[in-house]
Amino acid sequence: MVNNVFEIMKRKKKKKQQHPLVAPGGIYKVLGVSVWPCQHGNAVCRQVLALCLYPQLLEHSNFPADVGQRALRMLEACDGGSVGSYTPSSGMLYCRQRISEFIRRRDGVPSSPGDVFLPAGSQKALTNVLKLLCKGVEGHPPAGVLTPRPCPHTLPALLDEAEVTLAPYQLSEQRGWAVDLEELRRAVKAARRHCEPRAIYISNPGNPTGHVQDRESIEEVIRFAAAERLVLLVDEVYQNSVLGHGSEFISYKKVLLKMNRELVDTVELFSIHSLSGAYTGECGLRAGYIETFNMDPKMKYYLDVILCGDISTPVTGQLALDLMLNPPTPGDASYDTHMQETLHIQTTLCHNAQRGHELLNDLPGMSCQPAMGGIYLYPRLDLPSGFIKHAESLGIEADVLYCQRLLEEEGVLAGAGQDNGTVDSHHLR
Ligand SMILES: Cc1ncc(COP(=O)(O)O)c(C=O)c1O
Repeated sequence: MVNNVFEIMKRKKKKKQQHPLVAPGGIYKVLGVSVWPCQHGNAVCRQVLALCLYPQLLEHSNFPADVGQRALRMLEACDGGSVGSYTPSSGMLYCRQRISEFIRRRDGVPSSPGDVFLPAGSQKALTNVLKLLCKGVEGHPPAGVLTPRPCPHTLPALLDEAEVTLAPYQLSEQRGWAVDLEELRRAVKAARRHCEPRAIYISNPGNPTGHVQDRESIEEVIRFAAAERLVLLVDEVYQNSVLGHGSEFISYKKVLLKMNRELVDTVELFSIHSLSGAYTGECGLRAGYIETFNMDPKMKYYLDVILCGDISTPVTGQLALDLMLNPPTPGDASYDTHMQETLHIQTTLCHNAQRGHELLNDLPGMSCQPAMGGIYLYPRLDLPSGFIKHAESLGIEADVLYCQRLLEEEGVLAGAGQDNGTVDSHHLR
């Protein structure tokens, strides 16, 4: 499929056809709200990493003073003063401390470095957590995880790899893809007929929906998880991609810690963040973190061993994560440049989301909820019955056929809602 896509893209490029969504000289003006294709990495992050990788540059570069100081501090924290050394499997203590500092600053709640684990990317970490949480017990039904519909397109395969049953709960499209409490109750009851639900997965801000939960909705989910004895797996990788319109990112941990004592003492929470989903968008450097809360101490040992199963998460990724979460502050020489860069990304993201939303709603047969955050829009396709029947006759889903045609005829690459677990309606990502 991937090869097919690239073949089609190459053919389209050769034809030099110009379409309003196709940028001059390329195909990449797509329906995404992301700013990544035009980014060359966050300047401060790249400068500090350059110095860490080649410390000889410290004497010759004309990078801002705080960049050099930061690189020196980081090198001191590396074994042997080098980014080429292994780190503990759960991450460098320095980075775990810095992540805890970020969480304390963000939420105004306690955070301990011992509860923070740094895997090489959040997806792999989630698979490992699922394997641990959902280990089968002989004679018991298979373990299940309540999963939103639509969900991130990578999630079904990930659950499959962990041998966990996917128990879907439908998000409410009419309410801008909000989480619906009654639907959660229905979903857990339905799931218990064929599996043993152990956890609920939440993507907030939502991939692919762009929904951002408010405090009330988060409280509802926490109470529901407590009542049903489910572990909360909360993917918050798009937390700094909130697009305004009165929406605000609030972490599950912050909300939980303001709730009643019984909940604070009992609800098990895994919060996930990553280098990949934020403004930094440095996915290739591979690092993320999971913060655990109320985790069974016996599980911690196993987490330490398997969560970061690659012996050592790339050191450059760990350092980049610290730089993303703890950027320059007022008074640092690189502060202004960093703020300009961040503002530019924020503005571009909001502008793209707005433009994409208007454009999609202007197209016949499409309707799109506004995105409050994240990097996707998820429009609904109202396809003619003849087209749906034609897809059926070819043995493929209508939204998949639509995406193929869109690519072949217009050079526009979009994901089919199918991949996000959507059934009974057609969507694009
Ligand atoms: C919902 C969600 N979680 C996590 C990630 C990042 O995964 P990783 O940290 O493995 O790159 C993404 C991808 O960008 C995502 O969309």
